[in-house]
Amino acid sequence: MSQRTFAIVKPNAVRSALVGEILRRYETARLKIVGAKLVHASREKVAGFYAEHEGRPFFPGLVDFMSSGPILVLALEGDNAIADVRALNGATDPAKAAPGTIRHAFGPTMGSNVVHSSDSPESAAREISYWFSADELFSYAQKSSVADV
Ligand code: RTP
Ligand code: MG
Repeated sequence: MSQRTFAIVKPNAVRSALVGEILRRYETARLKIVGAKLVHASREKVAGFYAEHEGRPFFPGLVDFMSSGPILVLALEGDNAIADVRALNGATDPAKAAPGTIRHAFGPTMGSNVVHSSDSPESAAREISYWFSADELFSYAQKSSVADV
């Protein structure tokens, strides 16, 4: 059964031209892009997204950072999409992220790690609907070749 998750390529990664490299890692892992758009979110939009962290010391910096430029918001589908994207991203602190993960490869710090993804089915559902309207999400079959129409 396929599952959907939500991910973000954060503003420092967009600015550093890492969008293609990060999407390549997801696509190579058989995650299907079912929603994607570039958004420059307001401070209010970001604060609502991270509401669970409100009051924590890192919260103001996180809101500043995430509203500092465009982000790529993604809905990704796969058999085990939530755990698979978390595994590809790696530990929250890049210094602790395993080799081969996105956070290990690109860091740079806990507060400015280059990607986000949902941590549970409930978060995935909330986060996808927080950033996407129904007509921005797509269902389609993947093919192994561009010649296979
Ligand atoms: P994410 O939600 O971004 O995938 O990361 P996560 O589940 O691994 O981390 P979470 O605890 O949800 O924190 C969300 C984001 O807040 C920043 N953070 N900074 N300085 C700190 O102590 C601290 N703790 C969290 C990180 O940028 C993290 O991705
Ligand atoms: Mg989280």
